[in-house]
Amino acid sequence: MPGQPFPPGFLWGVATSAFQIEGAGTADGRGESIWDRFAATPGAIEDGSDARVACDHYHRWPEDVALMKGMGLNAYRFSIAWPRVQPLGHGAVNAAGLDFYDRLVDGLLAAGLAPMATLYHWDLPQALQDRGGWGARDTASAFVDYAHAVSMRLGDRVRRWVTHNEPWCIASLGHELGAHAPGLRDAALSLRVAHHLLLSHGWSVPVLRRHAPGAEVGIVLINSQVEPASPSVADREAARSFDASFNRWYLDPIFRGEYPADAVAERVRRGHLPPGDLPFVRPGDLAAIAAPLDFLGVNYYSRTVMSGLPGPGGEPAPRAVPMAPREALTDMGWEVWPQGLEDLLLRLHREYRPARIYITENGAAYGDVPNGDGRIRDARRQAFLAGHLRALRRAIAAGVPVAGYFHWSLLDNFEWAQGFTKRFGLVHVDLATQRRTPKDSAQYYRAVVAANAVPDDAQHP
Ligand code: FCB
Repeated sequence: MPGQPFPPGFLWGVATSAFQIEGAGTADGRGESIWDRFAATPGAIEDGSDARVACDHYHRWPEDVALMKGMGLNAYRFSIAWPRVQPLGHGAVNAAGLDFYDRLVDGLLAAGLAPMATLYHWDLPQALQDRGGWGARDTASAFVDYAHAVSMRLGDRVRRWVTHNEPWCIASLGHELGAHAPGLRDAALSLRVAHHLLLSHGWSVPVLRRHAPGAEVGIVLINSQVEPASPSVADREAARSFDASFNRWYLDPIFRGEYPADAVAERVRRGHLPPGDLPFVRPGDLAAIAAPLDFLGVNYYSRTVMSGLPGPGGEPAPRAVPMAPREALTDMGWEVWPQGLEDLLLRLHREYRPARIYITENGAAYGDVPNGDGRIRDARRQAFLAGHLRALRRAIAAGVPVAGYFHWSLLDNFEWAQGFTKRFGLVHVDLATQRRTPKDSAQYYRAVVAANAVPDDAQHP
């Protein structure tokens, strides 16, 4: 320290999501979500676990808020569980469910933490899935009612709102690849789902603005820096194609009011869409989706290097190729590539010009556990943080308007289809006792936040 400074007023936080930490699956009238149903499906979750208890954050939130305060943070990104607010996804509001978030928001403000609330982080009420889920246009209307109920109650105190978290994951992992709830494998359906997610986003922007005057409204996308494995035509084409379906399928409608023509043509070729007009788009939809936003939330975990050639073991092309040896990857198998964050931010700024950007997630899974003296020496997470914060600092210095960074995550938690096998927390959670222990990386982050600066390389290799 002091190192390179961040802009004054920069937000320093951590991010979590309701399903991954809250537990209390049936408390106070909470309804069933698609993730409860999916986790109960044999074979769906790597370790056979579910999130009925998770980190028991629903009951232990004061301790968790105190942990964040102890790190000196000034912001917190969390999500609201739709099935707590509307157990069946529509109709009367369950007051007890909304009360929980009311208490949480007050607790955050009292601790000096600015709340950033995500309305949808994947936990659709199962009752809505039974009526067609995100494949049904009515679900987009139901989302607007839900956004209305939540923002009426919290809009006076929550100054930053996120409609959706990572629509790509919902559409593709959930409806095309079957890896996430609701576990469907239907490429045509996944495109309809993506559209209804975007539509529900666009429709709820004015609702949030009405109930939270002056608040910032945005959406969170998962974005990857996509690169070809070589300058060959095949590899460049593979990179273009992945970028189109992963990044541009969401960025283009939101910032330009159109789906990317090359990706549409490709989906037609593959039989996922009929030729001609997109069947799920109605007049006015794209204008609604392109509602001006106050910020784009960027979740960055790694770059993706694409090859257009089959792999040596017969892996079909196009495919993502590993660029680092196994032992250098995180426990998710993701490459640690801080430079990709800078490259991605420069590209987003150049091509889409979002008014402001928050890094709404960035982090790494490493399985470090307490050793004899109870300390968790997660040096790799510390190095990950340092590298990414330096890359972020470079992007800001180059003119990208980034106003905050939220590390994923506060606590080791339920990592979706991987269950509890992956630990992303700055704070270790002993799942048997629910004991929380800040890791070394939490101390490091605390020092960064206190200085509002990332240490120079020499000071922190
Ligand atoms: C993101 C999700 C988040 C968490 C991290 C590791 O895709 O938004 O909930 O699972 O990955």
